[in-house]
Amino acid sequence: MSSTTRHPATYEAPPNIALVKYWGVRDVARALPYNSSFSVTLAGMRSHTRVEFDPALTADLVVLNHAAAEEGPRLAVVRFLDRVRSMAGIRERAHVESENDFPTASGLASSASGFAALAGAASRAAGLRLTDRAIAQLARYGSGSACRSVFGGFVEWHAGEDPDGRDCYAEPAFGPNHWPQLVDLVVLVRDAPVKEVRSADAMQTTVRTSEYFPQRQKEVPLRLKKIRAAIGAKSAEKLFPLVMEECDSFRKACETSRPSLDYLTSTSRAVIAAVQHANESARRPIAAYTHDAGAHVHVFTLQRNLARLETELGAIDGVERTLVVRPGPGAHEVSTRSAPTARAGRTRAPAARGRSRSSAR
Ligand code: PMV
Repeated sequence: MSSTTRHPATYEAPPNIALVKYWGVRDVARALPYNSSFSVTLAGMRSHTRVEFDPALTADLVVLNHAAAEEGPRLAVVRFLDRVRSMAGIRERAHVESENDFPTASGLASSASGFAALAGAASRAAGLRLTDRAIAQLARYGSGSACRSVFGGFVEWHAGEDPDGRDCYAEPAFGPNHWPQLVDLVVLVRDAPVKEVRSADAMQTTVRTSEYFPQRQKEVPLRLKKIRAAIGAKSAEKLFPLVMEECDSFRKACETSRPSLDYLTSTSRAVIAAVQHANESARRPIAAYTHDAGAHVHVFTLQRNLARLETELGAIDGVERTLVVRPGPGAHEVSTRSAPTARAGRTRAPAARGRSRSSAR
């Protein structure tokens, strides 16, 4: 394809929260994980990314949330573009503009949504026509978990066994409307520390140093199978204990790393304790906590328990606010007219149905 026929492309992609965590890379060059993982794609939040390859540019121009990206974040995008350029056999530099309609620093997996959107937009703008599976395979080079954000609903990323990674791919397990009663109450904690080490690096510290990591690798496949089955059967009573068990296992892998990795604040721990307490008082699992490499806590529950949990967890000291999020659709191309920053009068979509701590009471 000649540069004159190349067109800009724009993709939108959502974040996801892992119910079974990806934590450990077995082959860095091929971006292959040790274990399969499983996540829920989150509705109402999007990264919106526009890419244009331009023969007039001498260097890639990367604008993230209206500011020119520098150093690490810029380099990650440039490396990703290099991969796309080599796949497409092109040399032009690109103009990339990406923005999130949810707070980037909020710890809500903006790298997953960002790289899923970049994989779609950059490959399309380079003239490639990739299937969603191939876009997901590309996205994981930016951020492993990004491959799951390409698809909607409940998504499994198969680790595979092939040394070349041919059997490593993500695919949807259940659609976004599979279990309408299931909700994710995201509890945003105040003063969540900004991550100092990228997850991709932190997880390799775990692989190298955690005595528990090999044991975790033995546990995960069966737990994933049970989690997938519980979701298939829409059984909250089966699902919620497994989600917490997996989160505890992930946290143990982090805590047993040297140096130890601790992503939680005292508020996150209070939220976890409150969920445990709610389950004990109900004498059955009515909710499940999980968290990523960050301090915010995702609490899965059923619609009928939502109001009560929103009030209880929203009132915990140190909780900034809560968001109610549901499973949603995956990444998709949107029409490209102008750069996202130039769209006149665009009202920002609400990230989700958010409530401030005070209004949640
Ligand atoms: O995709 P990365 O490199 O940002 O790592 C994601 C790690 C976790 O969020 C903790 C787990 C996961 O599977 O999303």
